[in-house]
Amino acid sequence: MRGTLSIDPDFGVFRADALDALDVFFRTHGFAILRGLYSPDDLAAMLAECVDAQTRVANGELAERHGNSILTDAAAGSRFANYVQYITLIAPATRGAVLHPTLTALMQRWIPGGHLREHSRFGVVYQDARAGVLSGYKRIGWHSDWQSGPQLDVWPSAAFTIHVDGTSPENGFLRVAPGSHRWATPAPYRNANNAPVPEGARAAGGHTQLEPPFPMPLGFEKVHGEIAVYCDAGDMLLHDAYLWHSAAIATEPHAVRRHIRGAWFSGKPDAVEDDYL
Ligand SMILES: [Fe+2]
Repeated sequence: MRGTLSIDPDFGVFRADALDALDVFFRTHGFAILRGLYSPDDLAAMLAECVDAQTRVANGELAERHGNSILTDAAAGSRFANYVQYITLIAPATRGAVLHPTLTALMQRWIPGGHLREHSRFGVVYQDARAGVLSGYKRIGWHSDWQSGPQLDVWPSAAFTIHVDGTSPENGFLRVAPGSHRWATPAPYRNANNAPVPEGARAAGGHTQLEPPFPMPLGFEKVHGEIAVYCDAGDMLLHDAYLWHSAAIATEPHAVRRHIRGAWFSGKPDAVEDDYL
């Protein structure tokens, strides 16, 4: 006879036949995982076209808006790209996955009348995180997505991340503060990179006027009550744009963590001519 865990190992994980339960969990905790939406073949098709786009960015073969490469070996002239921006505009299988009717229906529950941004700032991105010294993206400190544009009229918003790779301590993972989407988180008047708060920014963003129980850390410090959210390959991680989250660095220098991320927003839909905004 085998033993079992004393907690539900699939805490926060739902399949497409339990969307009402997923919805309740998401509204309560600010995040949820949707499992089983994509087949291995779907994932392979997304990965093939995203990696192709990534290579083309590294080689300077795509328009500048799709991303920049970094020099990884000056002597050999090797270049690498951690991101491909506006990925849905050049990757049809990925676009199809992002517009999956189940995801679209969930987003309409949370952001009624909302839209996926594809043509402007906050468009859909293919991201390849790795820990190596020459990587341009390894980890990110505590933030809520709202803080990246507190002056914009696009909130509330809900984000999705399609995991090409499963996550673990070895290749990096998401840390979240459950329930923090309800707190009125201040715009980052003080932050690690001294970025100025834009003109016209709202003072705080969250689903209630409740003050956070403690200030958001400036970097990677432990938050009281935080949990790790691990995903399997093919999982869709959903999170509220007001949720406090951060991404831990990989412990294995050669591990990769690739995903496709984007969000649905309130307000006026963007349009093709909004490019570069
Ligand atoms: Fe984020």
